[in-house]
Amino acid sequence: MPRARPVARAPPSPAPVPVRLRRLRRTAGLRELVAETEVASRHLIYPIFVRPGTGPPAPIGSMPGIDRYGVDSLGELARRISGEGLRAVLLFGVARRKDREGRDAWAADGLVPRAVRAIRRSAPDLVIATDVCLCAYTSHGHCGVVRKGEVDNDATVERLGRIAVAHAAAGADLVAPSAMMDGEVAAVRGALDRAGHPTVGILAYASKHASAFYAPFRDAEDSAPSFGDRRGYQIDPRNAREALRAMARDASEGADLLMVKPAITSLDLLARARHRIALPLVAYQVSGEYAMLKAAAAAGVVDERAAVTETLTAIRRAGADLVVTYYAREFARWAREAT
Ligand code: PBG
Repeated sequence: MPRARPVARAPPSPAPVPVRLRRLRRTAGLRELVAETEVASRHLIYPIFVRPGTGPPAPIGSMPGIDRYGVDSLGELARRISGEGLRAVLLFGVARRKDREGRDAWAADGLVPRAVRAIRRSAPDLVIATDVCLCAYTSHGHCGVVRKGEVDNDATVERLGRIAVAHAAAGADLVAPSAMMDGEVAAVRGALDRAGHPTVGILAYASKHASAFYAPFRDAEDSAPSFGDRRGYQIDPRNAREALRAMARDASEGADLLMVKPAITSLDLLARARHRIALPLVAYQVSGEYAMLKAAAAAGVVDERAAVTETLTAIRRAGADLVVTYYAREFARWAREAT
């Protein structure tokens, strides 16, 4: 029996040389030099709730630090906001009187048109965007016209066009249809153009998931549906391809900017949309995301400024150009303190 030949052994490999990523993390100077993402006040849009009546701002229980403003106090607020370094606001109104059709939403003397005029007068350079939806104006709280127990898509988009025209006539720069009806961007574009507002832009709520994180907002707006839910028109949170289709569709219907919401649950969509769509992308850090951060900060479990900055940074890193956030004013204050 020939003796088994010894198995050839590979020469001992040299210890692997680590890739020393820490070289660029060593000092604050190096870290600043190579930082890839920036969040500045100019990237943020501040949402404002407008309420009927006059008098001091009314707090919102579920959103500490956020108030509802009467039109009479908006001029002063707008001046303050632009003095703080913010450039854009997004307005939400409520009905003075709710009805089945949501008629107050397109009244020329409604709260939002009056708010737009008040802000424009006192802070002419502030960019004014307005939410265009029916949920805060309908007695049933749905985002559209209800016929036979269902939201009627095509009757609703016609109403959205009227609302957008009322806001544009008051001087809004951007209108933001958020009802999640099919064809709403095209309908709003058409209505604006026919009414002589070809320069007013559309910030489309293109990818809006049916989310638990809108709960504090519905409290603020008194806009929770009185029956059913919004899953018949908002996107199922399990779906990303559908969300990307909605974004592509809204872009082709004439949207000028595309929004995704909630923000922190949509980072995959921001990253994927960033590669496919050249339009500016906006992420909405919604009421529940805000309330969650506020609660964690109040409980002392995170440092508020660090945690908020980290979320805004991640949202920008994922691909958002702009972020709608209730933290805009606080962030602007932190930014001013840092310089
Ligand atoms: C209107 C609208 C909603 C939000 C923005 N526009 C509520 C909803 O769809 O129920 C949510 C914003 C937030 O939670 O901060 N349809």
